[in-house]
Amino acid sequence: PKVTYIEHDGTPHAIDVPVGLSVMRGAVDNNVPGIDADCGGECACATCHVYVDEAWLAKLPPQGEQETSMLGFAATAQPNSRLSCQIEMTAALDGLVVRMPESQH
Ligand code: FES
Repeated sequence: PKVTYIEHDGTPHAIDVPVGLSVMRGAVDNNVPGIDADCGGECACATCHVYVDEAWLAKLPPQGEQETSMLGFAATAQPNSRLSCQIEMTAALDGLVVRMPESQH
């Protein structure tokens, strides 16, 4: 399934992310800039913060408690914010679009 990552400056990266990998891992493994993932996917750093395209928001698994609390610390959080390490790729997410915040630029 494909994920389109859009950098803060508008540069898109369409990447094939295997089912079972996180959206964060798909970016890091393909050198997509804008997702730092300092904690390596432990839901403890919030540097994998992305804005999920509105059309996709309801199709994602719900936020876990720790994800919600980490996003609470992200100054740039918006209602469509998610931590990309907590989104696991499934076939149903083919076409997912996420945008990276300026703070991770
Ligand atoms: Fe650290 Fe997602 S990689 S919270």
